[in-house]
Amino acid sequence: MYGKRILLGISGGIAAYKIAYLIRLLKNQGAEVKCVMTPSASDFISPLVVSTLSENPVAIEFWNKDSGLWTNHVELALWADLYIIAPATANTIAKMASGICDNLLLACYYSSKSKTIIAPAMDLDMYQHPTFKRNLNQLISDAVLVIPATNGSLASGLEGEGRMEEPENILRFIQINFPFSAKELSSKKKILITAGPSYEAIDPVRFIGNHSSGKMGFALAEICLAKAWEVTLICGPTNLDLAHPNLNIIPVFSAEDMLLAVQENWKNADIGIFSAAVSDYRPEKFETQKIKKTEKTINLQLIKNPDIISWASENRGAKQFVVGFALETNNALEFALNKLDSKKMDMIVLNSMEDKEAGFKKETNKITILDKKKGKYSFPAKSKREVASDIIDTIFKLM
Ligand code: C5P
Repeated sequence: MYGKRILLGISGGIAAYKIAYLIRLLKNQGAEVKCVMTPSASDFISPLVVSTLSENPVAIEFWNKDSGLWTNHVELALWADLYIIAPATANTIAKMASGICDNLLLACYYSSKSKTIIAPAMDLDMYQHPTFKRNLNQLISDAVLVIPATNGSLASGLEGEGRMEEPENILRFIQINFPFSAKELSSKKKILITAGPSYEAIDPVRFIGNHSSGKMGFALAEICLAKAWEVTLICGPTNLDLAHPNLNIIPVFSAEDMLLAVQENWKNADIGIFSAAVSDYRPEKFETQKIKKTEKTINLQLIKNPDIISWASENRGAKQFVVGFALETNNALEFALNKLDSKKMDMIVLNSMEDKEAGFKKETNKITILDKKKGKYSFPAKSKREVASDIIDTIFKLM
C-alpha cells in the first residue's frame, strides 16, 4: 500500500479505541493516513493519539475557532484513494443514508469520489434493528462497501453481533478489495449463486415447493458484494431483496428456469455456489385449468428435474470452482461425501437437520465443509452471515 492515501473517518463509538491500532497497521503497510473525527469520537479516543500515529493533523470541526482557518472537506475527500469509516455508528450510518451532512466526516463522504468502506459497530439490538438494516441496505445500494460487524462481547455487557471487525481483518479486507498490486488484482472474482426454493407448478394455482427461505444464498451474496466482487444471484421465489451496483439478480420459478439462467451465466463466473433447494421432481403434466375436487383420490405423476450443479460441473472451464450444499436428516456425512463425488463438486457445505441450530428459515446455521481432497472443516453454530463469511474464506483457501 506504499504511498496510497487513506482517509480514515472515526465516529463516536467505544470501538474507536481500536483505531489507533488500525492507523499503525496502515502506516506499516506504507499508506499515508489522514483522519477526520466526529466531535463525539473525541470522547472515545484522544485526537492527539490519532494525529501522532497518523503523522497528520486531525480534522474535527469545519473551521478552527482559534485561527479562523476553514478545513476544506472537498480537498480532503478528493485527496483520498480510499475512505474508511471505522467505527461507523448507527447514527453516522443513518445520516449517510439520508443525506444529513452536519459534520466534517459526513461532508467528506458527500465530497468523496473514492470508494467508501464502513465498519459498523454498535450494540446487538441496534445491529438487528430494522431502521439500521434499512439504512445499511441503502448504503450498500449506494455502492458503499460494508465490513460486517462480528459476534462477541459488547461494551453493554451483552454478547452478540455488533463488534467492529478487528483492525487486522479491516486491513485484510482493504488489501483484498483494493488490489493495489497485481497479485491482489487476481483475487477479484465473479460469483454465480443459486438460492431459495424452486416451485414446480401443478396447475395455475398450485405448486410443489419447500421451506427454503433463500437466507443463506443472500448472505453469501452480501459477503461477496462486500468484497467488491461481481455477483449473479439466481433465486427461486423468496421474500428477500437486495440491491447493489455489482449485483445481477435473476428471479426464477422452477428448476428448469433456474437451469436456463445458470446455463446463460455460468461461463462468465469464477465460482459457482449452488445453495438453492431445488426440487428433485416436478409434475409430469401441467394442468392448464385448476384441478377440481371431484375425485376421491388423484395421482400426481412426477418426473426427475435436471440436476443444475451437475450440469455446471460437467460444463466448466479448468479454473471454475463448484460449491454445493447438502441438507440431510440422517447419515449426513456419508450422503454429503457421495454428493461431492457424484456431482463432481470441489467443495460441499453440509448442514444437518439433526442440528437444532441448522435448517430452513433459521437465523443460525452450523456447517461442516468437505472438499474433494478429503479435507474436513467443522464450524460452531453462527449467524448465517458469519457462516457465509466462513464459506467464502474456505473457498478462497481451497482455490
Ligand atoms: O442431491 P441434493 O439435491 O441433496 O444436492 C444438493 C445440492 O445440489 C445443492 O447444492 C443444490 O443446490 C444442488 N442441486 C441442483 N439441482 C438439482 C438438485 C440439487 O443444483 N436439481
